[in-house]
Amino acid sequence: RAPVVTVDGPSGAGKGTISQLLAERLGFKLLDSGAIYRVLALAAIHHNVELDNEESLTLLAAHLDVQFITSSEGKGIKVVLEGEDVSLTIRSQECSNAASKVAAFPRVREALLRRQRAFAEAPGLIADGRDMGTVVFPNTPVKLYLTASAEERAQRRYNQLQDKGFDVNIDQLLSEIKERDDRDMNRSVAPLVPAEDALVIDTTNINIEDVLAMALTHIQQ
Ligand code: CDP
Repeated sequence: RAPVVTVDGPSGAGKGTISQLLAERLGFKLLDSGAIYRVLALAAIHHNVELDNEESLTLLAAHLDVQFITSSEGKGIKVVLEGEDVSLTIRSQECSNAASKVAAFPRVREALLRRQRAFAEAPGLIADGRDMGTVVFPNTPVKLYLTASAEERAQRRYNQLQDKGFDVNIDQLLSEIKERDDRDMNRSVAPLVPAEDALVIDTTNINIEDVLAMALTHIQQ
């Protein structure tokens, strides 16, 4: 079986950046599982499926027509929903909040399990998400859990969204991050918690290079 490194944690903890760097460094594939929940949320909005209708969301999840395309210029991964490039659209605050709502339904999560596990291919996979180490790849020996203070995470997300051209408000972002953390940590299935055997890194006062070094040391042990 292909080796899998799981990278879990709350929004803005640096999972995305670290996962991408690890994938580049190790030549591994990358699973951005959050993007799948974001795409599902967007598909629900497009198809007028209510965000509290578990039955319809589960059906939509099972038939979700999504592709992740690694761009040749090495500029991250393109996300295509039903033939349309939605890479930027799914990063909106509306999609972030909707994603955490659809992600709270047990049957929706169940319907996406196989699709996520299929990403584990040679030479290896970096799996970025909330439940990679606890539910999707519980048997992998190498697990990371990144966290940071809510204020720091909101600031990072603010910078990131501004760079992408979104019009953002830091106070609103902070309250949405707290609301999403609360929903992600308190849901009935796959709540956001570190796996028992995960290395937990608080990145509040650590720069990316140092987090990357800590992660690589852990992986090579
Ligand atoms: O980028 P950010 O960390 O803000 O969010 P994301 O990783 O794209 O995930 C968006 C939402 O999807 C989260 O708030 C979770 O509710 C949900 N999610 C999940 O439930 N399980 C995962 N493995 C990944 C994301």
